[in-house]
Amino acid sequence: MLVFAKIKSVQQKIKSLKKGTSVGFVPTMGALHKGHLSLIEQAKRENDIVVVSIFVNPTQFNKKEDLVNYPKTIDSDLSLLKSVYCDLVFTPTAEEIYSNNIQSQLFNFDGLEHQMEGKFRDGHFDGVGTIVKRLFEIVTPHKAYFGEKDFQQLQIIKKMVQKNQIPVKVIGCDIFRENDGLAMSSRNERLTKEHRNAAPFIYKTLKQAKIEFGTKSALEIVDWVENEFKNQPLLELEYFEIADEETLQPIKNKNSAKNRAFIAVFAGKIRLIDNISL
Ligand code: PAF
Repeated sequence: MLVFAKIKSVQQKIKSLKKGTSVGFVPTMGALHKGHLSLIEQAKRENDIVVVSIFVNPTQFNKKEDLVNYPKTIDSDLSLLKSVYCDLVFTPTAEEIYSNNIQSQLFNFDGLEHQMEGKFRDGHFDGVGTIVKRLFEIVTPHKAYFGEKDFQQLQIIKKMVQKNQIPVKVIGCDIFRENDGLAMSSRNERLTKEHRNAAPFIYKTLKQAKIEFGTKSALEIVDWVENEFKNQPLLELEYFEIADEETLQPIKNKNSAKNRAFIAVFAGKIRLIDNISL
């Protein structure tokens, strides 16, 4: 497994590949868990070589304390990547990516950025768009893999690729869950024992909402979920929405579009998100 921190070295290595070699790419912010490994395994199956980036992107954090507290576990990340036979790892510094101008480009994602996470995390998606576009320019992958846990992020990246005509196929991968249903996330490590025990309630509620969607209206389900969380002293609901998968606009009436339920919850100080296809 090759590890490069410099843009030039990664580019040279990728350029030196034989013509026709397919490159799969998994961008990450490190603190790798089984969810990331499942993306890498899928990328391995579908491409000749797999590149993983590890970069904690400063421009997508709207709270400085979240950036400071973000887990940095490079040694164990590299051993995990070796264990799944990753071919190339890109670990740039912020200076390498942004020179001395750590700022986001401003994007128009046709309104996707104003829904759900966009209401609570100012500038977050400009930061994500900026780094993913930059990484795509550096790595020039044929396919790139993103988890559906961040479904809004996935749709925004697809939009960015389409609007900028970037020649990469963006692939959304199923959410990887703990045995008790909690969606895997680097943030789970930071939950207290009490909050970790309470957190599976999030997915349990999403599953029940999916069942209720058969017979109840979207508004009734939103009310029901809000009430359910009132009885959970350790979990604070930030939002629950049922939205169209393409536009991410909340739906009022059931329609023929594909719908998905989205949720964000505070478990103590840790903010967790999840979603389910309805
Ligand atoms: O989902 C993430 O880990 C990040 O948002 C990403 C896509 C690696 C960009 O920094």
